Amino acid sequence: MSTSRTKDKYNIAVIPGDGIGKEVMQATISVLDELDIDFDYVYGEAGDECGEKTGTPLPKETLDIIRNADACLFGAAGESAADVIVKIRQEMKMFANLRPIKSYPNTNALFDDVDFMIVRENTEGLYIANQEKLTEDGAIAKRIITKKAEKRIIDYAFDYARDNNKSKVTAVHKANVLKKSDGLFKKIFYEEAENYPEIETEDFYVDATAMYLITQPQNFEVIVTTNLFGDILSDEGAGLVGGLGLIPSANIGKDGALFEPVHGSAPDIAGEGKANPIAMMLSAIMMLRYIGENDAADKFDAAILKVLDEGKTLTSDLGGSASTMEVAEAIKNNL
Ligand code: NAI
Ligand code: MG
Repeated sequence: MSTSRTKDKYNIAVIPGDGIGKEVMQATISVLDELDIDFDYVYGEAGDECGEKTGTPLPKETLDIIRNADACLFGAAGESAADVIVKIRQEMKMFANLRPIKSYPNTNALFDDVDFMIVRENTEGLYIANQEKLTEDGAIAKRIITKKAEKRIIDYAFDYARDNNKSKVTAVHKANVLKKSDGLFKKIFYEEAENYPEIETEDFYVDATAMYLITQPQNFEVIVTTNLFGDILSDEGAGLVGGLGLIPSANIGKDGALFEPVHGSAPDIAGEGKANPIAMMLSAIMMLRYIGENDAADKFDAAILKVLDEGKTLTSDLGGSASTMEVAEAIKNNL
């Protein structure tokens, strides 16, 4: 991620989407507006409601808005999520999926000192579109590992570690069984590591990693892994630190970046004004760091931490009774 301010004014694509996506986006924008940064928001439609209204859940105009922006904030889609968010990632070639796993006070975190980043390859592995086939005996899925894509994600993980004062990168694979594909991933990992002599390296099998995440999560700083393993381990990580209302993510490519909470549109609580906005806000903080606004990111982050620490203004998922906008107000008062 970049480390210093890149522009005087930023063009930000804002896609609230469905359900609580709209509510957490409104709360987040209200805090961003207090940060003294010149943002030009361009709103785009996507999701179930948009599909009903326009005939498609992801209109071409929305993709163009994302293409022309410095970065995109995305709330959540509903049932059309696969046709919206997965399609945006593919169209924009957002190859890196970043999922920070960090414990915050007054949450349901299992440990109070977890802080690591999962860097997941987002374009190949076992999740390539239209590559599953029915056969006479059953079905076959293909798993693709290319040198180009794996080198790109591994370099991204090392660069991330170097730029964010992390001292170690852990590669996660299953090279004992998937000897050719994950053997290649592991080989590339150690080849690229030579370009980063100041960063410590280690590698684990994915099954062992699933256990270590529970027994010694403090060991991890940056994990780099292939698509499916990253998907599974990052949800395990979410469970470690207390749930969906707190987990942000980033999708990053050469030509664009999109920041979104990991949660969906939450139809069970949508419209009640009680969704936790913090996952969306932490996603916006990742965006601030991506565009180089690190001071604003630190300030926003500290204000969230203060509100969580005080434990007075929390939404119901964290055991409180505050509304989405009350949490936003409390955070603004602590900036
Ligand atoms: P979900 O994340 O929307 O909700 C799961 C549970 O967590 C619900 O009980 C919900 O109330 C709660 N929850 C989620 N976020 C919360 C927040 N910020 N504050 C308080 N509670 C929160 O996942 P679910 O129920 O599996 O899916 C609902 C819809 O969302 C589906 O239509 C699904 O396709 C879509 N979805 C979209 C995603 C996206 O746009 N990236 C990701 C995941 C699901
Ligand atoms: Mg997942």
